[in-house]
Amino acid sequence: MIICTKFKGDLMFITSLSSKTTLEKLKSDFKLINCYFERFPDGEGYVRFDEKVKKIKEILIVQSLYYPQDEHIMQLFFMIDALRDLNIKIDLLIPYMAYARQDKRFKDWESVSGISLAKMINQFEIERKYTVDIHNINVTKAMKGENLSAMPLIADYLTDLKLKEPVIVSPDKGSIERAKIVANHMDAEFDYLEKTRITGDTVEIKPKEINTKNRDVAIVDDIISTGGTMAKACEVLKREGTLKVLSGATHLLMISNAEEKLNMAGIDRIFGTDSIPSKFSDISIANIIKELY
Ligand code: R5P
Repeated sequence: MIICTKFKGDLMFITSLSSKTTLEKLKSDFKLINCYFERFPDGEGYVRFDEKVKKIKEILIVQSLYYPQDEHIMQLFFMIDALRDLNIKIDLLIPYMAYARQDKRFKDWESVSGISLAKMINQFEIERKYTVDIHNINVTKAMKGENLSAMPLIADYLTDLKLKEPVIVSPDKGSIERAKIVANHMDAEFDYLEKTRITGDTVEIKPKEINTKNRDVAIVDDIISTGGTMAKACEVLKREGTLKVLSGATHLLMISNAEEKLNMAGIDRIFGTDSIPSKFSDISIANIIKELY
């Protein structure tokens, strides 16, 4: 794992990233130093910064909390605490926030893990906290942070693909705002898939307003996890006579056979950011970081 530093005026920033693409893109602005994450034989984690850290006054930590989530969370806590011991002021960017989908109590007596994690982060003295395309803004609010969006970067990516009369589609009404941002950036149309119950055991899913026949569609969401949501959406769109169906999200968890499921559904392309590195993470979050500082 690498730490980058950047001098801007009299400030210095550090980022800790596991995405090689984003690190490469930041290299021109950021000076790299090392931070070591190791494991003791009993499984406990260990964090040590390069001694160059002693010159630092203010930093930005970028730590994405994907699998193994709990390990990444502990690394983050150890980093923050060690840096605070050195009296370094910290900004924190969490590209993928773990547990954000457990944002409320769905069943009695269960933990609201997303909010619990936010509260834990709040125990540390941190100047500014950022998330990216958080599943539920309540989690960002609970950590007194600001949520940033990768949707403009997704729009740039899709624009370069020169799609045919593209329609940006949200897989459900809840994610419509994201589709809208992408569409507005591309000067394209947007829609969402609506579920209508026809009989007790039949539901019909189709685009709410727009006929996508002979047009290309990009479905955008915050997360692709098992791929179930996207696969279903793709099948519906293909039935409607849509040409290409592209499926993308900010956070590509791509659990177990998600890729296979999407391929079986006829998806023409999978895309997303490197908030979670994967073979489909073609969009670097470097620009979000560059714009922040
Ligand atoms: C759910 O509300 C999220 O926005 C995503 O649609 C969901 O996490 C995707 O999960 P999966 O890929 O397992 O269908």
